[in-house]
Amino acid sequence: MDIKDIKNRAEKDIKSAQNINDLDKVFQKYLGKKGQLTQVLHLLKDLPEEEKKKTGKIANQFKKEFLIKTENQKKNFSDTDSYNPKSEWIDVTLPGKKISTGHLNPITQVKREVEDIFERLGFSVVEGPEVESEKYNFDALNIPKNHPARDMWDTFWIKYQEKEKLLLRTHTSPVQIRYMEKHNPPLRIVAPGRVFRYEATDASHEINFYHIEGLMIDKNISIANFKAIIERFFQMFFKKSVKIRLRPSYFPFTEPSFEVDIGCLVCGGKGCSVCSQRGWLEMAGAGMVHPKVFKAVKLNPKNWQGFAFGLGLDRLTMMKYKIDDVRLLYGGDLKFLQQF
Ligand code: FA5
Repeated sequence: MDIKDIKNRAEKDIKSAQNINDLDKVFQKYLGKKGQLTQVLHLLKDLPEEEKKKTGKIANQFKKEFLIKTENQKKNFSDTDSYNPKSEWIDVTLPGKKISTGHLNPITQVKREVEDIFERLGFSVVEGPEVESEKYNFDALNIPKNHPARDMWDTFWIKYQEKEKLLLRTHTSPVQIRYMEKHNPPLRIVAPGRVFRYEATDASHEINFYHIEGLMIDKNISIANFKAIIERFFQMFFKKSVKIRLRPSYFPFTEPSFEVDIGCLVCGGKGCSVCSQRGWLEMAGAGMVHPKVFKAVKLNPKNWQGFAFGLGLDRLTMMKYKIDDVRLLYGGDLKFLQQF
């Protein structure tokens, strides 16, 4: 390949370029991926040492000059020199491309709706951390070390520890402690959020799910207040009256304690896989705040009383939309999710 020949042709081509587009074509012809000068530079490595030195010098000098000359020629053109109205024509009457948008997971939709109802009932929405300390998840809630109650929650413990043991919170009850440490009663709060339990999954149990904790403290609060609030809540949420029952239970941080069941809305109380053929589904744990919890946050239990409850947001979602398996909510199957 004769470099001089290529050089002469390149100089001619640069001079005859009429606009930026032409110049770009000239650049591609000589210095593009398969350009003539690029190929010469590529072949250098195969030449004998002496020849390589000689030809390399000429080729590199040519490359330098080529770049300077194209740059100089570019200055002669304005931006509009390459403007070609025909090729830039757009049919503005064509229908636009539809951009597909996502939407909120049904649990998030339900969480927002539940928050809204409780706000209308006079509760404030507060939040707390998902990685909790042993103190807030257990100790301050009257679940001391080695207490058999700790067996009730199969916990994901965090390996990394600072001063105290850390874990993924098993409920949002620690938020009531955090809140009472900083705010004096009377108070009415709900604390929604993600919780974790190390347990086997089935149609109504997940290892990662959502709670909303409720707390109301004042001078004269009784179970009757709780029943009125929770009944009103279910009525507003399901937009019809729902059968509820309070079942005696045990939580270390409430006394007395109970579970709140609602008549299964998936099967109408006949029995199905969601309610384990019972016709009733457990929706919440609840009770009157234990005196030891008041003491843990330096409040005098003689002056204050109140109720607390923890609702499962996943189960509420399942009841509302008649979903027969909690795992569907986390599966990411668009065919399922697009129905909501
Ligand atoms: C608690 O976690 C208590 N902290 C609730 C509480 C708060 C009691 C305040 C008293 C006072 P429990 O383990 O029962 O309670 O869980 C509360 C609700 O979460 C259950 O009623 C149920 O609706 C839901 N739930 C529990 N385990 C799962 C699970 N694995 N998957 C989905 N939902 C669950």
